[in-house]
Amino acid sequence: MNDHSKTSEQALKARLWRGLSGKVLMLTIIFVMLGEVLIFLPSIANFRITWLKSRIATSEIAALVVDATADNMISDKLRLELLRGAEVKVIALKRGTSRHLMLQADGDLMIAERFDLRQREWLTPITEAFKVLFRTENRLIGLTDHPPKMTGTDIEIVLDEKPLRDAMLAFSVNILSLSIILSIVVAAMVFLALNYVLVRPLRKFTFNMLRFANDPEDQSRIIVPGNRQDEIGIAQRELQHMQVELSNTLQQKNRLAALGLAVSKISHDLRNMLATAQLISDRLAMVDDPTVQRFAPKLILSLDRAIGFCAQTLKFGRASEAPPSRDWFNLRSLTEEIVDMAVIQASSHVLLYNDVAKDLVVDADREQLFRILMNLTRNAVQALEASIKDGTALRECAVRIKAWRDGGVITIEVRDNGPGVPDKARNHLFEAFKGGARAGGTGLGLAIANELTRAHGGELRLITDAEMGAIFWVVLPDRITELHPGRRGQRELAAGE
Ligand SMILES: Nc1ncnc2c1ncn2[C@@H]1O[C@H](COP(=O)(O)OP(=O)(O)OP(=O)(O)O)[C@@H](O)[C@H]1O
Ligand SMILES: [Mg+2]
Repeated sequence: MNDHSKTSEQALKARLWRGLSGKVLMLTIIFVMLGEVLIFLPSIANFRITWLKSRIATSEIAALVVDATADNMISDKLRLELLRGAEVKVIALKRGTSRHLMLQADGDLMIAERFDLRQREWLTPITEAFKVLFRTENRLIGLTDHPPKMTGTDIEIVLDEKPLRDAMLAFSVNILSLSIILSIVVAAMVFLALNYVLVRPLRKFTFNMLRFANDPEDQSRIIVPGNRQDEIGIAQRELQHMQVELSNTLQQKNRLAALGLAVSKISHDLRNMLATAQLISDRLAMVDDPTVQRFAPKLILSLDRAIGFCAQTLKFGRASEAPPSRDWFNLRSLTEEIVDMAVIQASSHVLLYNDVAKDLVVDADREQLFRILMNLTRNAVQALEASIKDGTALRECAVRIKAWRDGGVITIEVRDNGPGVPDKARNHLFEAFKGGARAGGTGLGLAIANELTRAHGGELRLITDAEMGAIFWVVLPDRITELHPGRRGQRELAAGE
């Protein structure tokens, strides 16, 4: 288990309530409270208006009583009784411009503030309601309104503010306790719902990621996505896809590492065996027979090359190639070697042509270019041999190597008139072990040739042609950093001559 995921897992366990669940709970409570406050503001303002309007209504009844008497004359007892019943200090009626004082309490009546309930606004009532709630001392307030019954008349009353404040406080306490209960219920419901819909799946998701991170090669740890269609469902499926890819890549990496080791081992023992063969072939070169004399140098060269190659693989301890060590050399001499080697492998029905110009020079790693061209030529010969065997071959089977230079880029062509590259091989042609479509082939040859060409900054191309056969181009650019003015000058001079 890696340290990173270990601490993450511990954190996930320890912070169960400080994690996403806790945050969701806090936020729900905050938002529900906020909602309650937003509802409270207009409702307390409304409560005040309704309360005052009810005073207006009772005052109107008192005024009607007085209005019904002759000359508006009533006894003091009845006056005080009516005022107490309406809970007001003064009741006056206004008809047009004339104002009639209907009832008035005794004593000093200093009005602190007047309100006009006929105006309809929405913000002022809220601020006024709050002012009432926070005012501690009692005072007298005056009200003007349309009475509910009498038309064409305005009513004015004066009353104590304290009873209003007491009623508003009682209302607030009611609302507050209701809010708290409501908050708890709603918060609990929202929390449970969010927990079920979001938090729990996310926690499972995170747990899975951590579990997988501990051992990505264990395929049983790959997430099994549900059939949700929302973002979480998509994320689960994407994660599954990524985990499968990663797991496969890791397995492949392990296989490749094992393969690299195997290659090193094989190279090691192969080098020893080849060294023995080299000793024998050195002796062979001393034999006087002309046939032996003809083939012995080629055998020795081939063995030298094989030993060098094994040694190089061992030196780098890996299956990837050493970087090319480039130099200028004559291409024709190299292609001659290739043709010589390929001729030995080919039957007499396959002809090899070396059409490379004698003076063509190339800037490359000679050994690596040899391997590139050898692989291409061998493939061509093998394809031709196969077509000869199954009788689909042309009368004259040929492999041609030619090359041309275009500025700083040299192109080497290996062309045959065999069956062409099968479709099955085309799709993964340059991928190791994947491009092989030939019985007995490993599918490595073109992958190696491609890798070596790319290391030169070049490109290996399969040219599609209407004609029969396969055409491969090795396109190699010269090194850009090193200019060869002398060489270039020489060639230009030669062209001028
Ligand atoms: N000149 C060609 N003509 C027809 N098919 C070809 C030619 N060159 C390559 N192929 C196809 O491409 C496949 C891949 O070639 P590659 O050299 O990578 O592997 P291989 O020849 O099968 O195995 P090896 O690793 O031994 O070279 C071959 O199996 C063959 O089917
Ligand atoms: Mg091959």
